[in-house]
Amino acid sequence: MNIKIEDTSPIGKYEESMPWNQIEKIILERRSIRAFKKEPLPNSMLRRILEAGRFAPSAGNSQPWKFIVVKSPEILAEMEKDAVKMIKLFMFFMDYTKGNILRRLYILTYAKWVIRFMKNELHPVPMGLMSQIAHGRTLVFHGAPTLILLAEDRRGVGNPPTDIGICGQNMVLAAHSMGAASCWIGLIKVLMYLPKWRKRFGIKFPYQLNNCIALGWPSPQADATVPREVQLVQWYEGGMKDAPRIERQGE
Ligand SMILES: Cc1cc2nc3c(=O)[nH]c(=O)nc-3n(C[C@H](O)[C@H](O)[C@H](O)COP(=O)(O)O)c2cc1C
Repeated sequence: MNIKIEDTSPIGKYEESMPWNQIEKIILERRSIRAFKKEPLPNSMLRRILEAGRFAPSAGNSQPWKFIVVKSPEILAEMEKDAVKMIKLFMFFMDYTKGNILRRLYILTYAKWVIRFMKNELHPVPMGLMSQIAHGRTLVFHGAPTLILLAEDRRGVGNPPTDIGICGQNMVLAAHSMGAASCWIGLIKVLMYLPKWRKRFGIKFPYQLNNCIALGWPSPQADATVPREVQLVQWYEGGMKDAPRIERQGE
């Protein structure tokens, strides 16, 4: 989407067919960036990004989050090393595409059982990414010079993971609005199997690690736009007995 700043509409106003405003432009143009310059974002900028997270809405205003900023190159390198190790170990037990027929059969039976309990973690998308990481084709944290870990307070009101998602989205949008690159790193969770990292970051009850956002300056090598599905949205505009009108959103 090519939208020039001068084309944008004023914020807080709506007119039929007006151009996107600056907030919409930031939402539509943000992409996950997986190539970062070595130099980190200044702390003052990171604080503004954290502020965007702090001001996120949450159920009952319970703010069920804790932010952990990791900038130490030594710690980042150790996290990458351990995450790769864990992913390799995991793929050794779970990668049913490799090995002879007996191994494949054994792993497939075992994997099917595990997948029942870890449907989301073992979805083909993270499995594909983990396979790439295990084969050294990509990095877990993409060489980002800063990570913001989002810990979730399990005592939050309603559904704390939703609150964390909103909080993180505020941060990535704020980062993008200031020219920074970001990428969510859900795979960080593999580190939580190691007590060393739970201890290092003080993640214990009532907290658990929910997710992580990698931040930095984009390196010129940026990803292409990721397509989005057209959504079939139900619009209820008539009476109680009327069927909804289905509109194709995104065409
Ligand atoms: C909760 C969450 C976890 C994610 N985890 C990872 C990850 O571990 N590694 C990665 O490279 N990308 C990760 N992503 C980025 C998604 O792949 C990306 O958002 C998606 O492909 C859409 O692309 P876009 O962000 O450029 O619009 C994650 C995104 C979200 C929202």
